[in-house]
Amino acid sequence: MTKGTNCCDTADTTKDEVKEYYGKTLQHSDDLKTNACCTGDIYPAYVKDAMKLIHDEVMQKYYGCGLTIPHSLRGKRVLDLGSGAGRDCYLLSKLVGEEGEVIGVDMTDEQLDVANRHLDYHTEKFGYKKSNTRFIKGDIEKLNEINLEDNYFDVIVSNCVINLATDKEAVMREVYRVLKPGGEIYFSDVYSDRRVPKELVKDPVLYGECLSGALYWNDFINLSKKVGFHDPRNVESEVITIQNTELQEKVGDIKFFSVTYRLFKIAELEPSCEDFGQSVIYKGTIAETPESFQLDEHHLIKKGEEFKVCGNTFLMLNQSRFKEHFEFKGDMKTHLGIFEDCGESAPFSEDSKKSSCC
Ligand SMILES: C[S@@+](CC[C@H](N)C(=O)[O-])C[C@H]1O[C@@H](n2cnc3c(N)ncnc32)[C@H](O)[C@@H]1O
Repeated sequence: MTKGTNCCDTADTTKDEVKEYYGKTLQHSDDLKTNACCTGDIYPAYVKDAMKLIHDEVMQKYYGCGLTIPHSLRGKRVLDLGSGAGRDCYLLSKLVGEEGEVIGVDMTDEQLDVANRHLDYHTEKFGYKKSNTRFIKGDIEKLNEINLEDNYFDVIVSNCVINLATDKEAVMREVYRVLKPGGEIYFSDVYSDRRVPKELVKDPVLYGECLSGALYWNDFINLSKKVGFHDPRNVESEVITIQNTELQEKVGDIKFFSVTYRLFKIAELEPSCEDFGQSVIYKGTIAETPESFQLDEHHLIKKGEEFKVCGNTFLMLNQSRFKEHFEFKGDMKTHLGIFEDCGESAPFSEDSKKSSCC
């Protein structure tokens, strides 16, 4: 293969174009041509309060597509993949408290410069003696090159970034490696309703705007399972409106969605929701959400009420940082079949016709 045509050169060119887009082309959120990287989130009060403390320059260079701030973070170690100008890192810095730790990784110098410029400002605003946050220049596909240890982080977040990675499987493998057992990646990204044709992937604006690098949602689910995240949970989703005629014409009928997923690193999770007759009771002890706990789109668990769960949901709550906030009933000794409350069903039923063949 001649130079300039192999896969690594293509990936390097794409990365250079992304750096150019986020380092030079865009100066603030209003420069985006679509709302793919800036969907309209409604923030809960505890996030709004923390946001009031964030520096204006950091806020103006926010290019995320969802709210990537899960509950119960105090004292935790959090990694932000593609941390940009640092908005989410600083929100997390406030929420993990002085004893927690936040690391942001990004490959674009201009974004890192903004994030680093305001470290002291936020340390002072949050009333900390020393900063709990660091920004590291690096490629999220190669976290080993910046010496991030195995099994280190409680939580990984990422906001509208993995679609920009040229090797998404490498990112997800690295995520699995650096997460502690029982840890989770809680992240927002863009997904498409079908595979995006190669000629659109090559378009630097469509790619930079977080559209044409998006994975078809089912390819993402299968990729997650392949690297060890057996039961990806959808927390929130929103359709992306491309308010730009030229870009809309280019993408044609392809639909894009901004989705927040949470994926737990728990080896025992199964590919399907299985029923063991288990249930949980939320104690109402997570300060940010005392009345109920939302695990994902299908699980809103009200305080004090017994809530039937499948084996996977039981494990997600019992083997993660949420354990202390729940009472658990049952075990996994007796299997009762597929857990139908999750929308799954057996492929046959008692009234299936008996076949006469053979
Ligand atoms: C859409 S912006 C989002 C930034 C930030 N998460 C936010 O919400 O404002 C994408 C960011 O991902 C970074 N990025 C893209 N691919 C990357 C990679 N392979 N490694 C590290 N950073 C990457 C870009 O430099 C850019 O800052």
